[in-house]
Order: sequence, then structure tokens, then C-alpha cells
Amino acid sequence: MISAATKLYAVIGDPVGHSLGPVMHNRAFGALGHDGAYLAFRVTDIVSAVTGIRALGIRGISITIPHKISVMPHLDHCDDLALEIGAVNTIVNDNGHLKGYNTDCLGAVRALGTATQIKGRRVVVVGAGGAARAVAFGIREAGGVLTIANRTRNTGESLAAELDAQFVPLAETGGGAWDILINTTSVGMSPNDGEMPVLERALNGDMVVMDAVYNPLKTRLLKHAEEMGCVTVGGVGMFVHQGAIQFELWTGSAAPLDAMEDAVLSVLQENQK
Ligand code: ATR
Repeated sequence: MISAATKLYAVIGDPVGHSLGPVMHNRAFGALGHDGAYLAFRVTDIVSAVTGIRALGIRGISITIPHKISVMPHLDHCDDLALEIGAVNTIVNDNGHLKGYNTDCLGAVRALGTATQIKGRRVVVVGAGGAARAVAFGIREAGGVLTIANRTRNTGESLAAELDAQFVPLAETGGGAWDILINTTSVGMSPNDGEMPVLERALNGDMVVMDAVYNPLKTRLLKHAEEMGCVTVGGVGMFVHQGAIQFELWTGSAAPLDAMEDAVLSVLQENQK
């Protein structure tokens, strides 16, 4: 029940029409009886939006494309990891004091952590864009031995250098070199779901394979990995875990992870029919 005491939460970005944030967080509020409501706002002017967040006392914000970097100078404070990554996907508003976090990073670590230990494992992150940055910093924090694989050499090499990681050209990824492979590119996303970000020979059956893509739920990469006997983690896991960390930052309560995953899966299964 929405009342005068209900706290407001929102995702801001452009586009936001297909965001799964409202379904996931409203289900979480309902599951725990938290008096909150979460809406999606399409925002082009990030400076005015931040002024509005302060003026209206919006308690928690998810930031998505294209504002994850440009929002940072307008906040009062950024968490150290978000500063290092150079991107914020979450804001907590404490009585007008806005603090930025990056939960994409630890969300990826938690999702992967449901399937495998990370510390000491050889991990290849495929991609060198914004998503790759967040995931790669998380893997480094968790003690993984990191390689960046990218199509374009100079962007891949510069991310690898920042992280003290190895770089390998995408076309040269071969099986046997890694324990864990994480795709952070959009390759394999619907409607191009016949594509795979790495060559088939990049995988062997002992690897754990995680894909940030969740549309389709089972990408060609994950299907192939399963056929080879790999343990796999789908993109919904990463999305739900980053949302769970947001929920914890906003409410101080442990997130109802199963309810959040169920809400996201039911929308995606319906859309993908
Ligand atoms: P995001 O913020 O979602 O990570 P991005 O910053 O545009 O998006 O980064 C996209 C990443 O996916 C890049 O690493 C890109 O590789 P390049 O640096 O070579 O452009 C990678 N990528 C996108 N399409 C790809 C494709 N068809 N094959 C291989 N890599 C691709």
C-alpha cells in the first residue's frame, strides 16, 4: 500500500523502457514488507535529475546507460571501488547526502561465487568496455588471476595495464589456459543469438563459464559450455546479485534473493516465449 510514508526509489537512464529493475525491486519490497516503491525515469539531463533526487528526497537510485560516468561529479561522495572503476550504478540518499556505489562489480563476484571459488583461479574476462571494467575490478578484488580478452587490441591492453592483468587478442583464446571465462560483451544477445563471443576451442569441460547476457536466458556460449560439461552461470545471476547489493545498501536488510530472481525470470520467460 502506497502511503505518505512510502519511500521512493528509481532507475534513471535512457532508454529505461525495458528495465527489469522495477519488477525486481518492487517484488523485493513486497516480500519483506518494506514500505517502498520503485519507478523507471527516462532521463536525458543528469544534472537536473540529481537536483530532483535531492529536492524530492528519493531514497535510492539505480543509474544506467548513459549516465554511469557523467553522474559522478554531481554526487557528494563515491565509494572507493566505484572511484577506481570510474562508474556508479547505485546512489544512496542519506538526508540529501548522495553517495555513489558500483554494485555491478560485487554483483558479478557474488554470482560467480555461487558456482566456484575465485581466489587463485585463472579468469579471462571477454570484453574491455564498461561492463568488463566493473567485472574485472571485482575479479581482481576477489583474488582472481586476471586476463582481458578483447577484439580491439588497444582498449584491451589499456584495461589490462590498469589492472596489472594479461591481455590476449580475442581470436587467440584457446582452451586450457583458464579456469573461468566471463563474457561481458553483448555478443550472443537476441536477435543475434546464434553468435558466440569466443571460438569454440576457447572452452574445455573443466571451466566455469559466466555470461552477462540474459536475453536469451541460455546464450549460445552457455549452451556450448553446458554441452562440454562446464559449470555455467547465466546473466540473470549477475543482474539479481547487483540488485540485491543495491537493496541492502538502501534498506539495511538482507535482500530476498529468490523472490527477486523469480520476478526477473518470470518477465524474461514471458518475453522470450
Ligand atoms: P558495455 O558498457 O556494455 O561494456 P561497450 O563499452 O560499448 O559496452 O563495450 C563493448 C565491448 O564488447 C567491447 O569490449 C567490444 O569490443 P571492441 O573493444 O573490440 O569494440 C565488445 N564487442 C562488442 N561487439 C563485439 C563483437 N561483435 N565481437 C567482439 N567483441 C565485441
